[in-house]
Amino acid sequence: MSTDFLKGKRVLITGGLGFIGSSIARRVTEKGARVTILDACLEPYGWNMANIRGIEDRVRFVKGDIRDAGLFGDLAGASDVVFHMAAQVGREISMEQPLLDTDVNCTGTIHLLEAARAMKKPPKIIFAGSRGQVGEPEYLPVDEKHPDHPTDIYGINKLAAEQYCLLYHHVYGIPVTSLRLNNVYGPRCQMHAGFYGILNWFMSNAMQDKPITVYAEGLQTRDYIYIDDVVDAFMAVAASDTANGRMYYVGSGRETVFIDMVREICRAVGKGEIVHVPFPESRKKIDITRFVVSTEKLEKDTGWKAKTDLRSGIEQTARFYEQHLGDYLNRKGNV
Ligand SMILES: NC(=O)c1ccc[n+]([C@@H]2O[C@H](COP(=O)([O-])OP(=O)(O)OC[C@H]3O[C@@H](n4cnc5c(N)ncnc54)[C@H](O)[C@@H]3O)[C@@H](O)[C@H]2O)c1
Repeated sequence: MSTDFLKGKRVLITGGLGFIGSSIARRVTEKGARVTILDACLEPYGWNMANIRGIEDRVRFVKGDIRDAGLFGDLAGASDVVFHMAAQVGREISMEQPLLDTDVNCTGTIHLLEAARAMKKPPKIIFAGSRGQVGEPEYLPVDEKHPDHPTDIYGINKLAAEQYCLLYHHVYGIPVTSLRLNNVYGPRCQMHAGFYGILNWFMSNAMQDKPITVYAEGLQTRDYIYIDDVVDAFMAVAASDTANGRMYYVGSGRETVFIDMVREICRAVGKGEIVHVPFPESRKKIDITRFVVSTEKLEKDTGWKAKTDLRSGIEQTARFYEQHLGDYLNRKGNV
């Protein structure tokens, strides 16, 4: 897959100081794009100035909120490609503060689409969707034909935002693709909270000799996908006209038992105390038992393929945090 199309392109990355956004920023900067990062630096999310260390002189950073229609609209309107990563990302937060989630995930996305609609040549938009849009699967592996029954407000609002994106493609011809991401892990994911990015959170616990708390036996399954493979997927759909108006799953295609993932972390770190506790009630009702996706459609349309297996991805992640853990425990810089 060629990324030559990025040379000289104006690229806007919302949530670009976060885990996935900054990883995309690093890749597209390397490929010669002119990058603007828009991030509101909201708590308790994953923004971190350390995430753009080394490229800070080559990107423009705008501190701003996607709920601010004027600011966001101007930036989006002046872009060729928009990677839309900014989101309220906590599932439990979405249940406690549904209006916050709706404002950021739905209204924020509509601001972007409205700005694109006003342009003669609208930008290509790639939306970060989530496996949380599906709910408890009716069959495995989940594919693009699987029905959606989200179990939380976050999943419902991500689904609505994706539908807005696809509608604006259908009605106004705006080139939009949605990538429904599975459990993404790897370098530059936040390490200060366990409400998302659980693999990274457990790794930080293991490194600091803190117990790793696993609900029940940890027998639920997930599809863990390494950050470099996710960035490749964003590049692949950005380059593809076939992907316009479509939604795809991004995952490893491997179903991993939760407790096996935890053991891999302990192996890579060289230590880690696992403690089993009962499932909290708040989590039980929104948790999913099994999950794995098929990525056949994405592979067929774009040639993308996940390259990193869980063991080597976890090892690469551990090596990164051995060097940089301090940046992620006492994160932040001046913004
Ligand atoms: N990490 C995963 O496993 C995963 C899985 C599925 C979907 N996703 C989606 O991928 C995207 C990126 O997630 P991430 O893991 O990089 O999270 P992250 O917390 O590291 O990054 C999100 C960034 O968005 C910023 N942000 C939040 N609200 C904002 C607002 N209103 N205006 C501007 N900026 C705002 C935060 O400050 C943060 O820097 C999100 O849309 C998320 O829903 C992530």
